[in-house]
Amino acid sequence: MNDTITKLINEQINAELYSAYLYLAFADYYEEEGLSGYANYFEIQAAEERDHALIFRNYLHENGERVHLASIAQPDVSFSSFLEPLEKALEHERYVTSLINGIYDAANEARDYRTMNFLNWFVDEQLEEEDNADTMVTRMKLFGSDAKALYDLDNECAARVYTTPSPLAGE
Ligand code: FEO
Repeated sequence: MNDTITKLINEQINAELYSAYLYLAFADYYEEEGLSGYANYFEIQAAEERDHALIFRNYLHENGERVHLASIAQPDVSFSSFLEPLEKALEHERYVTSLINGIYDAANEARDYRTMNFLNWFVDEQLEEEDNADTMVTRMKLFGSDAKALYDLDNECAARVYTTPSPLAGE
C-alpha cells in the first residue's frame, strides 16, 4: 500500500479514537446533568467510533501494513447548554466526513481501487452520522425548552441499543 494512504489511515484510527473519547465526554456531561438517556446515546456513539477505529486497524493488518497508535487529544468538556454538545457532534461529524473524503482523494490519485472500495462503507456511514447528529440538534432546538418534552427525548435516547457495524460483524 502507498505510504501516504497508510499514514492517512493511521491518522484516521487516531481521529476515530478521539471521536470515541469526545462522545464519552458528552456522555459524562449528560450523566452529570441527569439526562441519562442522552448519556446512553453517546456511550453507544463512543462504542461505534471505537469500532470505526478497529475497522481501519483491521484493514491495515489485512494489507500487511503497520498500525501506529498515537496519543489521543483531551476533549473539551465545558458546555453551556444541553444543545451545545449536539451542535459540536454535528460539526465534528462534518469534519470526519472531510477526513474520509481526503483519504478517498488520495486513494483515487494513487489508483488504489481497493482502498476506495473499502472506504465506500465509511462514505455511507458518514451520511448516516451527519443525518443522526442533525436530527439530535433539531429535536433539542424544537422541544428542549419544555421539561416534559425533554423528558420524552431523554427516554427515546435511553432506548438506543448498540449494534456491531457490518464490517466487524462478519468476524
Ligand atoms: Fe466515525 Fe462518527 O464517524
